[in-house]
Amino acid sequence: MSEKQKFLVYRNVGNESVRYERYEIPLSKGMSILDALFYIQDYYDSTFAFRYACRGAICGSCGMTIDKVPMLACRTQVTTVKTAKKPINLPEVVFGDTSDWDQDNEILIEPLPNMNVIKDLVVDMEPFWKFYREVEPYFTKDWNDTASESSQSPNDMKTIERLVYCILCGICWMCPVNAKNSEYLGPAQLAKSDRFIRDSRVNKEKQESVISRVLQNDAVPACEKFFVCNRVCPKGVMPGTAIKDIRDNWIEEK
Ligand code: SF4
Ligand code: FES
Repeated sequence: MSEKQKFLVYRNVGNESVRYERYEIPLSKGMSILDALFYIQDYYDSTFAFRYACRGAICGSCGMTIDKVPMLACRTQVTTVKTAKKPINLPEVVFGDTSDWDQDNEILIEPLPNMNVIKDLVVDMEPFWKFYREVEPYFTKDWNDTASESSQSPNDMKTIERLVYCILCGICWMCPVNAKNSEYLGPAQLAKSDRFIRDSRVNKEKQESVISRVLQNDAVPACEKFFVCNRVCPKGVMPGTAIKDIRDNWIEEK
């Protein structure tokens, strides 16, 4: 008989109250948490809702909270959840009553923190996108309209490389400031701003407009330097460090 893994899974359908369902799943080699969710959907409940697209840690759709740590479901192996090193000093996130969770034997699956749940593990990312649009996170020719091409030296690229890796998964919204301040722009949004402040292809005027946006009270000054975002980001973007860089370069030295 194949080995099995128990799951305790957050369920919330429409206006129904939150409940947790137990499932037991036969393990297969290399099974990810996302694979396990497909098993639940295929064999237990076809109405079970969660997001995914690439299944390769690229699209950022499958962010969720696994054993109280926000992670990408497609990149997390079922067999290593209980043994993998966890980020330290994370805020406690409560989605419902998990007092009967058997922490040693059950993998707890919950939605991303600090976002409203639409259904089961599907959260409303609109506030995330709204703030993301606000920092105008795209490169346009208007930003450097004197150049026929916007080339960049390898060294200049290195200054933004880490920031470019962001896949917009929303995991860094576990930040305690996001929990209490719905106006806070958010770690990913500020990391993206730093990427455009630093990009050598961006002209001075655009750079100044990004800086002036992120120096408003709902942005860099609202960060309380928890650095939770640095610890949970699955792509090593280090948004907290980006925010610190903006603060050091454009606030404290001004
Ligand atoms: S900064 Fe990291 S955690 Fe935040 S959205 Fe980007 S990839 Fe996800
Ligand atoms: S499914 Fe795309 S990042 Fe997990």
